[in-house]
Amino acid sequence: MRWFIMLILMLGCSTLKSKRGKEIHKDVPKSAFEVFNNFQCNRCHKLPPTDFTDYGKDILSKGYGCISLQTLAKQHKLSGEARRIFVESGCVECHDINGNGFGKANLNEFGLKVQDKDLGCVGTFKRLLGED
Ligand code: HEC
Ligand code: HEC
Repeated sequence: MRWFIMLILMLGCSTLKSKRGKEIHKDVPKSAFEVFNNFQCNRCHKLPPTDFTDYGKDILSKGYGCISLQTLAKQHKLSGEARRIFVESGCVECHDINGNGFGKANLNEFGLKVQDKDLGCVGTFKRLLGED
């Protein structure tokens, strides 16, 4: 009986740990650099953000950039490869994949917190360009 209780306790601890791990990742970013480096912007954009990585150029040529993807999402038309890229690129961290998010920028709860800090896509780029 005692080993059984121990096992339950151990399992409990490990799920607690993984939950906490997720929350750490979900910390609201504090700077534009943090957004740029930790939320995959750097997969496609370079610094200064007027330039693209090779992968970003590839995405651009396919027509799956930020504005295009977000437009599809807002029209509830995000499907196939575009939908996959929206998930893979981490847009879903802050935006609603089905276009049912809050406000004009189609945000989820976490995205709203990021917006409060003015560290969304536009806010981040403004800061990185030194316009803020
Ligand atoms: C999968 C590649 C990819 C990722 C990841 C990505 N972007 Fe983009 N983004 C693009 C491309 C390509 C464009 C230009 C074409 C378009 O918008 O459709 C663009 C456009 C933008 C624009 C509009 C720029 C303008 O001149 O109007 C902003 C702002 C932006 N991205 C910010 C971000 C931020 C911030 C992140 C990270 C949170 C991010 N992007 C992640 C590919 C990406
Ligand atoms: C860390 C959170 C975060 C991530 C990740 C993120 N965004 Fe955003 N994005 C925001 C917020 C917040 C706004 C609104 C405020 C602003 O733009 O500064 C925004 C604004 C935008 C805008 C301009 C507003 C509009 O609706 O036209 C586009 C386009 C956009 N995001 C697309 C994307 C795409 C596509 C991705 C993935 C490649 C992405 N974002 C990833 C937080 C994020």
